[in-house]
Amino acid sequence: MMASALLFLFCFFLIILLPCTSLAQTSTNISLGSSLAALNDNLSWPSPSGEFAFGFRQIGKDGFLLAIWFNKIPDRTIVWSANRNDLVQEGAKVELTSDGMLVLRNSEGGQVWSANSAGTEVAYAAMLDTGNFVLANTNSTNLWESFDVPTDTILPTQTLNQNGKLFARYTETNYSQGRFQFILQSDGNLLLYTTRFPLESPNFAYYATMTMGTGFQVIFNKSGSIYLTAKNGSILNMVSSNTVSMKNFYQKATLEYDGILRHSVHPKSNGSSAGTPLAWSPLTSEPSDICFRVEGDIGSGACGYNSLCSYNDKGPVCQCPDGYSFIDLNDKLKGCKQNFISQSCDEASSETNLFYFQEMQNTKWYGGDYEQFTSVQEDWCRQSCLGDCFCAVAVFNNGECLKKRIPFSNGRMNPVLVEKLSSK
Ligand SMILES: *[C@@H]1O[C@H](CO)[C@@H](O)[C@H](O)[C@H]1NC(C)=O
Ligand SMILES: *[C@@H]1O[C@H](CO)[C@@H](O)[C@H](O)[C@H]1NC(C)=O
Ligand SMILES: *[C@@H]1O[C@H](CO)[C@@H](O)[C@H](O)[C@H]1NC(C)=O
Ligand SMILES: *[C@@H]1O[C@H](CO)[C@@H](O)[C@H](O)[C@H]1NC(C)=O
Ligand SMILES: *[C@@H]1O[C@H](CO)[C@@H](O)[C@H](O)[C@H]1NC(C)=O
Ligand SMILES: *[C@@H]1O[C@H](CO)[C@@H](O)[C@H](O)[C@H]1NC(C)=O
Ligand SMILES: *[C@@H]1O[C@H](CO)[C@@H](O)[C@H](O)[C@H]1NC(C)=O
Repeated sequence: MMASALLFLFCFFLIILLPCTSLAQTSTNISLGSSLAALNDNLSWPSPSGEFAFGFRQIGKDGFLLAIWFNKIPDRTIVWSANRNDLVQEGAKVELTSDGMLVLRNSEGGQVWSANSAGTEVAYAAMLDTGNFVLANTNSTNLWESFDVPTDTILPTQTLNQNGKLFARYTETNYSQGRFQFILQSDGNLLLYTTRFPLESPNFAYYATMTMGTGFQVIFNKSGSIYLTAKNGSILNMVSSNTVSMKNFYQKATLEYDGILRHSVHPKSNGSSAGTPLAWSPLTSEPSDICFRVEGDIGSGACGYNSLCSYNDKGPVCQCPDGYSFIDLNDKLKGCKQNFISQSCDEASSETNLFYFQEMQNTKWYGGDYEQFTSVQEDWCRQSCLGDCFCAVAVFNNGECLKKRIPFSNGRMNPVLVEKLSSK
């Protein structure tokens, strides 16, 4: 009796398990003619393990992003997108056409994006367990890979070749192309740049490996280390080494909207890593203090114009000086505006007595001086700025008096600075 019941159970499992697993495998090849519509947030083509998915994600009320994301973590972190600068609305569709093109069309049918695989013999598409979405031929040779056209993130097993770049998104919640770039230039130098937003052109480099002539490829290897190699494979620069188990943690490296390149890890589940929060935490952040690294003659600095940047363990914090407030609270990098009416330049109504100095210690500005005086007293510097309708900030240090006008740039604070500075 007992034995026959066990035998029955054994057969039962044998019979239902086999078709299930083979189904799960075949279902990962996306055949020509397949499509997904942007209707709600949960239609996608998952990878065999289910850890990554390709499909539409709704971005607030703004529309849909055709994206790849970590599919087994609560916040379903997006790692790639096709239409970051051009969200589509409900009813948009992505189709793997019968002639092997992967095309995104908006709700009116207009083409918004396509994978650059024209003229090749695409036989199917697949969302791989690495997070790479591929178009392949009948020989399973990849003809197009999302890994070759990254947006702001790279994943383990992904490489960045010469001219390969990551572009930060605009804000935490706005995925469109932002103000910072990570690029392996064709000359071999690996850099972090501020850009001349809204253009892509580089402005100020705040991280550089100086590997001109030798830098060949950035590798995020299977074990989770990120490094720059020469053509012969030797490591030229370690960007980040891995210190956690690949079995228990997801990993990614993202150039985030604040300009920091972060190599972050996320526990795969509660059980496997007791005590660690189910969230992304950075292993490495580059550079370590962006506030003091970005100081171009052109541009606002790591924060926006008229703001002050300070760095804590989470990254740069942008603040407005007294008398100023954020232009856009949801986009602090846009900078600060004056809350008061500027001093009149009319000679008759010298408004000197209507203004006062807000004294600020441990604060530093770079660039944008329009007058410089040496061997003067602090009070002379104050009076000179108060009597000058162009003067917004006076910096006094060791007998030197510098005057700055609006907008002032590259403002940062650091408790170890001892210079005595003042602003009006
Ligand atoms: C996907 O399609 C290719 C080419 O037809 C085939 O070789 C491969 O076995 C398929 N993969 C799966 C998981 O079905
Ligand atoms: C997808 O979302 C819709 C509405 O948001 C919901 O009704 C449906 O159950 C979801 N399907 C799955 C498979 O989660
Ligand atoms: C597939 O591989 C075979 C043998 O290597 C080759 O003859 C054929 O041209 C390949 N087909 C495609 C579509 O690349
Ligand atoms: C995101 O930011 C860009 C750049 O400022 C802006 O043009 C775009 O409208 C924003 N997108 C959304 C959905 O707010
Ligand atoms: C990845 O790189 C690290 C650092 O160089 C190395 O120790 C490790 O063996 C590499 N892993 C693989 C799979 O190549
Ligand atoms: C590899 O290339 C680098 C940079 O060109 C060079 O310094 C190094 O000596 C080379 N190593 C070997 C083993 O050839
Ligand atoms: C993690 O643990 C919390 C509390 O024990 C539980 O509510 C949650 O569902 C768990 N999440 C996962 C992914 O296991």
